[in-house]
Amino acid sequence: MRILNFGSLNVDHVYKVADFVKPGETISAETYSRFCGGKGLNQSIALARAGAKVLHAGRIGSDGLFLKEKLEASGVDCSLLEVAAEEPTGHAVIQVSAKGENCIVLFGGANMRIAEEQISRSIQSMERGDILLLQNEISRMGEIMEAADGAGLRIFFNPAPMNERVLSYPMELVDTLIVNEIEGAGLAGADPESGPEQVIRSLRTKYPAANLLMTLGASGAMYLGHSEEREVFVPASSVRKVVDTTAAGDTFIGYFLAETALGASPETAMKTAAAASGLCVGRLGAADSIPFRHELRGG
Ligand code: RIB
Repeated sequence: MRILNFGSLNVDHVYKVADFVKPGETISAETYSRFCGGKGLNQSIALARAGAKVLHAGRIGSDGLFLKEKLEASGVDCSLLEVAAEEPTGHAVIQVSAKGENCIVLFGGANMRIAEEQISRSIQSMERGDILLLQNEISRMGEIMEAADGAGLRIFFNPAPMNERVLSYPMELVDTLIVNEIEGAGLAGADPESGPEQVIRSLRTKYPAANLLMTLGASGAMYLGHSEEREVFVPASSVRKVVDTTAAGDTFIGYFLAETALGASPETAMKTAAAASGLCVGRLGAADSIPFRHELRGG
């Protein structure tokens, strides 16, 4: 079974700061680094490092060729990746606080110029029963979902970043929905303060045919299969020092999906994913902080 990840590629400009800048304030960064990023690229790298066969479809400008090289060096098939010489590659401006938390400003660039032809070419290169993974950082999402469903692909969707556009997508086509608590509450129209069990139950009511995976940061993760009555809960793995939480969710998703494609149960897949994202938060940066499978204990 192959996995097609149709997703974003960003150049991440990462500034380490004591605390996030406030309105009207000017602050100096302690350090500046440039990393490979984008939720799409990060998830493809996590998938490949976890041992899955993954093709990445997406769009960059010629200023982003090093992102393609990073994917290829990680074992990702980039034959469906388009390079548009005249367009700027997407980028992200990321502040990382002393506590390791982040805040991100995105510029979509080439990610937001996906063409119809690339969608049909990408979907046609897959086979019935293969998996399509999507995040919410590229254009034409609804069309991609419809084409994938028409070709018999199973759609795994991570609606991040969550915004109004998501509500217009054909969500009934999604096989597995992967959200954090805020995204889940936004989708279900639930109160994010009502607690994860309540949020996942509201999601079940709204999307009864979908499997639901909810990541809970330092509190772990929760899964509710579409035909199951009870959630499966897995705690987060212990972390000695949180350096940077960027891409922790992407790492979790990549490892979870790789394990699922290899036939693991949701619980086993979540445990492996928790171990991988625990390692990721101990390192600075996005793609570069994603561990290889051999780094996981017993992996
Ligand atoms: O999930 C982390 C990613 O979000 C970063 O790499 C940044 O590019 C944004 O897409």
